[in-house]
Amino acid sequence: MIIQKMMKENSLQGKTILVTGGGTGLGKSMATYFSELGANVIISSRKMEVLQQSAIEISSQTGNEVFPISVDISDHHSVDNLLKESLAKFSKVDVLLNNAAANFISPTERLSPRAFDKIVDIVLKGTYYSTLAFGKYWIKEKIEGNILNIITTYAWTGSGYVVPSAVSKGGILALTRSLAVEWAKYGIRLNAIAPGPFPTKGAWERLVPGNLASKINLADKVPLKRTGEHQELANLAAFLISDFAAYITGEVVTIDGGEWLKGAGQFNFLDFIQPEMWDEIEQNIRKSNKNN
Ligand code: HXC
Ligand code: NAP
Repeated sequence: MIIQKMMKENSLQGKTILVTGGGTGLGKSMATYFSELGANVIISSRKMEVLQQSAIEISSQTGNEVFPISVDISDHHSVDNLLKESLAKFSKVDVLLNNAAANFISPTERLSPRAFDKIVDIVLKGTYYSTLAFGKYWIKEKIEGNILNIITTYAWTGSGYVVPSAVSKGGILALTRSLAVEWAKYGIRLNAIAPGPFPTKGAWERLVPGNLASKINLADKVPLKRTGEHQELANLAAFLISDFAAYITGEVVTIDGGEWLKGAGQFNFLDFIQPEMWDEIEQNIRKSNKNN
């Protein structure tokens, strides 16, 4: 299947969009599409060399400027500096995409308090530090900015073995819905996307590390029997941050090929039953119906 690019040409022109974690993985793919659609894009994370390389790569592909700024989002001073440097470069920021995250699989009882803190500090605190910094700036300057948060489906189901991440993503979901209402009076929108499995180096090295990758096929858990394509996520993100979505706020859009619902529906495990066995089952049910 060929995944098409969804938005009209130049649909993000005139906007400045900051993508945290924009130098790698899904952040880089979304930043690339925003740049292609005419936006000024800022990509930020801890590793400046990675950011610089990605900025050059994206910019040479799209012809638009991509500006790298280093930040540690778990440090609110660093986040304040990110806002300052962004404004020094582009004078205005319209959209904040909270995409940066950290995660690894582990039985929770093996985690030290510092290990738990590390993930929560980056994922949850990092998201609310940047949300607070940019929200205060927009309110003060009377700018109708918008925020898109990248969460995942275990924000509402929870999940073992990634508990600090689940706690954090659940917190971001509550943050999204709470502020969507509280800050609507300033014209600020907040939405979230909950992706299922989308292959990236960063996620795969930490969620299916080493030879676990040969034992687990994440696509098998997905009713549509495949993992996501980065462009599919980029299409959705570009729509939600664009003016086409001006009446959408407080929403969470799941893009997971049906993965989480498959785990939730009690009889979804019956997929393995073949037609002949269904014939037998049907006869048995009809027989019981007659006898009742
Ligand atoms: C137990 C561990 C551990 C492990 C590290 N720690 N790995 N504990 N099992 N496998 C502990 C350390 O011992 C330490 O605690 C604490 O965690 C922090 O360690 P640091 O040395 O500071 O960090 P480091 O181990 O170098 O790196 C961990 C990290 C890093 C910060 C999380 O992986 C990172 O920067 N990740 C960013 C990118 C990323 O994670 N991308 C994937 C996102 S995927 P002590 O007490 O010993 O000091 C994602 C997908 C969600 O979010 C949904 C999927 C469907
Ligand atoms: P990734 O490439 O590892 O992205 C994580 C990014 O966060 C990196 O660019 C990293 O850059 C940055 N980051 C980490 N700690 C930071 C900090 N303290 N300050 C600033 N930046 C920091 O993984 P990904 O798969 O693309 O994940 C992107 C987002 O999608 C995450 O929110 C993740 O939870 C979500 N998600 C992914 C999947 C999936 O299947 N891939 C599924 C559901 C949700 P530095 O190391 O340079 O700081």
